[in-house]
Amino acid sequence: MSAKRRVAVLISGRGTNLQALIDADQDAYEIVAVVSNIPDAGGLQRARAAGIEALTLDHKQFGKDREAFERELNALLRARNVEIIALAGFMRVLTPYFVNSWKERLVNIHPSLLPKFPGTKTHERALAAGESEHGCTVHLVVEEVDAGRILGQARMPIIASDTPETLAGRVLTLEHELYPRCLAELARNL
Ligand code: GRF
Repeated sequence: MSAKRRVAVLISGRGTNLQALIDADQDAYEIVAVVSNIPDAGGLQRARAAGIEALTLDHKQFGKDREAFERELNALLRARNVEIIALAGFMRVLTPYFVNSWKERLVNIHPSLLPKFPGTKTHERALAAGESEHGCTVHLVVEEVDAGRILGQARMPIIASDTPETLAGRVLTLEHELYPRCLAELARNL
């Protein structure tokens, strides 16, 4: 078996997907760092509890200069020999500079069946559109938001009594199963 791929997970919030990536049987990847752009993100504590280096890089310190934030982020990741980045609720849009420097090695999870409903409020929009099914997508990150090659999807039916909240809960459960599976596959194929 070849060496495990070194993964960094970028977060901004509670980090339930991060937890799923930590808890999964990781024979293909190893999470070597978690970076949050929000200083008190709950996910940082999850990383520390798992013995993973937890770092904060507050984008506000860089004002409007997105690339300056990303150059610093890049330096942190390169210094740790990171090979793959997994975005898990990371709420910053990344510039072409960053995206292109991690081509084929930068993945995201999105709470809809892409190409349907890129962007925000996916559960509300799926209901409003009268969809009969919904789900989540793991995809490579490219310059256009939520538009990169799809690595995997998980789907479920929408039922009459569903609300945005019930959909969010069921989709999240699917995310926790899908993301580790897709990340492991990417790591094995790199
Ligand atoms: C998830 O719904 C994910 O699809 C989206 O952001 C949310 C992150 O949740 N990109 P968590 O922080 O992993 O709990």
